[in-house]
Amino acid sequence: MVLSSAARPSRPNGSNGPNGNQLFLGTFVHSKTREELEFLHDAAVAVDGRGQIAGIDAASGGVEAAKEKLLRRLGWGEGEVDVHACEPGQFFFPGFIDTHLHASQYPNVGIFGKTTLLGWLERYTFPLEASLKDLAKARQVYTACVRRTLAHGTTTAAYYATIDVAATNLLADLCLALGQRAFIGRVCMDSAELCPDYYRDESPEESLRATLETIAHIKHIDPKYEIVSPILTPRFAPSCSGESMRGLAEIHRQQDLPLQTHISENAGEIQLVADLFPEAGSYADVYDSHGLLTAKTILAHAIHLTEEEARLIATRRSKVAHCPCSNSAITSGEARVRWLWDKGIDVGLGTDMSGGYSPSILDAARQAALVSRHVAMRLGEGEARERSKLTVEEVLYLATRGGARVVGLEYSIGGFEVGMQWDAQLVGLGSVEEGSTREGEGAQETAAGDRFEDGGNVDVFGWETWDERMAKWLFSGDDRNTKKVWVKGRLVHSRA
Ligand code: GUN
Ligand code: FE
Repeated sequence: MVLSSAARPSRPNGSNGPNGNQLFLGTFVHSKTREELEFLHDAAVAVDGRGQIAGIDAASGGVEAAKEKLLRRLGWGEGEVDVHACEPGQFFFPGFIDTHLHASQYPNVGIFGKTTLLGWLERYTFPLEASLKDLAKARQVYTACVRRTLAHGTTTAAYYATIDVAATNLLADLCLALGQRAFIGRVCMDSAELCPDYYRDESPEESLRATLETIAHIKHIDPKYEIVSPILTPRFAPSCSGESMRGLAEIHRQQDLPLQTHISENAGEIQLVADLFPEAGSYADVYDSHGLLTAKTILAHAIHLTEEEARLIATRRSKVAHCPCSNSAITSGEARVRWLWDKGIDVGLGTDMSGGYSPSILDAARQAALVSRHVAMRLGEGEARERSKLTVEEVLYLATRGGARVVGLEYSIGGFEVGMQWDAQLVGLGSVEEGSTREGEGAQETAAGDRFEDGGNVDVFGWETWDERMAKWLFSGDDRNTKKVWVKGRLVHSRA
């Protein structure tokens, strides 16, 4: 398999048109609310040289009128902008936000056998992560991971790297160079109880020193954290000493940096936490009592939380990364998204590679819909059962605006609003009408000698409503439908 032309186009911001200004024309789809998608047809979106949406016109009766009106309003000359127009049937959608993934585990996707969390960490995960202190190997793995996720429309990712500072800093360098917005976590794990000798921070002090080294590196390469930002990353309670957790909490407060960890993923892990922290009232209380539960905390999984833990997390305004693919693959369980929402907790989606095997947030959204139906089937008949099921609109919200809230960027990404960043993807679905005869790049020949365009799995017949097209994309779409991807106005992936 060939990695498509991900990240080859690398014109820096400012070189789109003479002023760096761009104009996007066509259909724009984003979440208006959690329950509702908004469709802007024949619309124009203007993006300035800093990658920010400068203006939107969506009600002028025709795309040409929208374009002219918007250019006039902004005082931009037509010759000064790069214009990107959708083809019929295509649409712009906000870039996806992956709120939880391990770049360092990317080579292991699909390799998990019948293991569950603790055995999986020991057998597959720690050996691979430890091996990435070889920087040539880390470069190969991280480059492939960033390119692959960009190709699936992931414009923002909250990454775990490894304990190795140089390799973690390299991941930050690569995200910046390839143009993916990213939170970069150097993994903290200093507890001899769980971590193997060959893969462990030497001491709590060393754990904090190494963390600060990565923060300093990221500050150096991206001083305002515009594309890459550090994220504090105590791996999970069983791998961390109380001292290192308290130290990270102090950096969290002092530098106002986000923080990520895992919680309540698996029964064996929950028991281990109870054994290791007998003084704590619950798994969530371990984090809370060490100062790690705040509004800038991302908790991956949160499957088996008690009512009391959910109330505590809601009170602290901490966020949850729902990782349905991982939770099925390594047999962890089914997180209850509706139940978390009902408690007032913000939720986003994570691929959790390589607990999860798929690099795609579209796939995570699809699996979130399916897992919510499994949750429903356990609830018996009635209203609660129906409510548990997540709709197409709701899982696409999780993938975009929900994720933006989880990473604290809800005012910058996840939708199309003036003042937000142009982090977007151009989506094209296969057309049965046109596709059967069109010859073009990616065209293939059938046994019968017909040529057809490799537009992916989605066949649009032409009579579907826009709501139906979105449902078809969600359930049958893949990276073949993601034609172009932009982050902060920069084209970072193109299939054409
Ligand atoms: N808990 C601690 N480390 C990990 C990890 O790497 N992946 C998952 N899914 N859970 C964890
Ligand atoms: Fe994880």
